[in-house]
Amino acid sequence: MKKIGKLFGVGVGPGDPELLTMKAVRVIKAADVIFTAASTKNTYSLAVEIASPYISPDVPVNILSFPMTKDIHTAEIAWTENARMIADVLKRGLNAVFLTLGDPTTYSTFGYILKKMKCIMPEANIETVPGITSFHAASARLNRILVEGEESLLITSGAFGGDRIRNVDGVENIAIVKAYKNIKDINQALKDTDLYKRSVAVTNCGRDNEEIINDIDELENRAPDYWTLILASK
Ligand SMILES: C[S@@+](CC[C@H](N)C(=O)[O-])C[C@H]1O[C@@H](n2cnc3c(N)ncnc32)[C@H](O)[C@@H]1O
Repeated sequence: MKKIGKLFGVGVGPGDPELLTMKAVRVIKAADVIFTAASTKNTYSLAVEIASPYISPDVPVNILSFPMTKDIHTAEIAWTENARMIADVLKRGLNAVFLTLGDPTTYSTFGYILKKMKCIMPEANIETVPGITSFHAASARLNRILVEGEESLLITSGAFGGDRIRNVDGVENIAIVKAYKNIKDINQALKDTDLYKRSVAVTNCGRDNEEIINDIDELENRAPDYWTLILASK
């Protein structure tokens, strides 16, 4: 019987081309087939761009469509279809690499692939290769400590506004990803919880168009940039 291939979920970091791990580079160089995610609206993949110096020219790169929908049924169908495409590659004895921005275990489409692969191909050999997250890169960029001593850190999504921030107790530090809309409510929640004074936003961290926004009220007057995160501390 033919040996099945292996799937690697590989984090390529948040954008700085030097923030890939040596392991990520080795695994990408050895890939037979590359996969990554894009929304159904476009086929551009920043993860592929970051990894491109290490992808052999003869290796196929498949951009899988992940619909940005709240309809879980539609999303589940897409995740299953995408996992099937990867499973087909593994069944041919080839090794597949699924590239993700930042870290694959942190707000990543790789999470959906992992779940579906475990259902449709439980025998699959899967390895997750960690990457540097956007909020670790941003703290480093700012020479700012993310969390220390006996403090806590909340990592949360800002996609639905500030309620997650209002509803936590005993947290000294917050990293808010997806801080690109509902920014007025996020700012208000930071003010309500004493986290506003030491807050800063970073957009496109590590890329040519990187911006550090020290007065996060400024974000309210801009067109939202998806690649925005906020770090805040008491
Ligand atoms: C779907 S999450 C992906 C998180 C990623 N897996 C990680 O480990 O950081 C997308 C959000 O991550 C944040 N993000 C990712 N890369 C970023 C960057 N280079 N600069 C600022 N924020 C970034 C933004 O808040 C964006 O809305």
